[in-house]
Amino acid sequence: MANQEKTAFNSQTDLTGRVAVVTGGARGIGLVICSHLADAGARIVIADYDQAAGKQAVQALNKTDASFVCCNVADELQVQKMVAETLEAENRIDILVNNAGIYPQKPLLEMTGNDFRHVVEVNLVGTFLCSRYVAASMVENRCGGTIINMASIEAERSSSEGMSAYGASKAGVVMLTRSLAGELGKYGIRVNAVSPGGIITQEMASKVNQADNQNRRIQYSRLKEFLKRVPLGRMGEADDVARAVLFLASDMSSYINGETIKVDGGYMVS
Ligand SMILES: NC(=O)c1ccc[n+]([C@@H]2O[C@H](COP(=O)([O-])OP(=O)(O)OC[C@H]3O[C@@H](n4cnc5c(N)ncnc54)[C@H](O)[C@@H]3O)[C@@H](O)[C@H]2O)c1
Repeated sequence: MANQEKTAFNSQTDLTGRVAVVTGGARGIGLVICSHLADAGARIVIADYDQAAGKQAVQALNKTDASFVCCNVADELQVQKMVAETLEAENRIDILVNNAGIYPQKPLLEMTGNDFRHVVEVNLVGTFLCSRYVAASMVENRCGGTIINMASIEAERSSSEGMSAYGASKAGVVMLTRSLAGELGKYGIRVNAVSPGGIITQEMASKVNQADNQNRRIQYSRLKEFLKRVPLGRMGEADDVARAVLFLASDMSSYINGETIKVDGGYMVS
């Protein structure tokens, strides 16, 4: 790549001076997203309900411009407080990554209404609440912004066993993404989603390694079955997802709005 082109590319992914809130950024995919956005120059605010992991994550990022706010995204008052605290410390929010999510597995006939509601409250209502209050601050600041929601391929395929609440919540996230994109575009706020397939995070890998032999065998045979449908022939990594988020957060995607980008190695086309 010629030097001039390289500079143009770097300037489009440069997030220097921008403030990014990443929900669920204390571990897993969220933490890797924080690391990519920080490397691109953004100031990072991790909003997570796990205080110990959140503080550890700030240390792991090893950046002076990263901080942690304890927040349960499903709780409206806590979200309002998180946004107010961030604005007090940083003055603005340019990027919101709605990554916090849960995926408990429970067969339909064992699931209660509360089980179902809990998944929807965190994955869908949490995404709405953070978007709602962060978007208000972006509108007030008149400087636009970008919101990236974490969906899943489970939003589009008939859900795997025990994942009906999860699939429904993530389908809601995809539709919410489109609706918000339509409503917020006039303020210069872009709203997009990333839809990961099977992603192995460091935490998952170490859980599998710690499992007893029988459980490990079960996990490996499930993995083998899953991989048969992935044209790229490998599981995804948090890095794969984080790069797509960086693209959507940066000016590289300046005319992309209301889109959901699959990061699934081609699973959904196979
Ligand atoms: N790992 C995958 O294969 C995969 C695939 C598709 C989509 N996703 C989505 O990506 C996102 C991250 O997944 P992950 O595998 O890194 O999960 P993870 O469990 O490793 O991390 C989730 C993070 O969210 C936080 N969190 C959970 N509930 C919260 C709440 N109510 N308020 C604030 N923080 C909360 C947790 O403390 C944790 O730090 C989720 O939205 C998940 O649905 C993951």
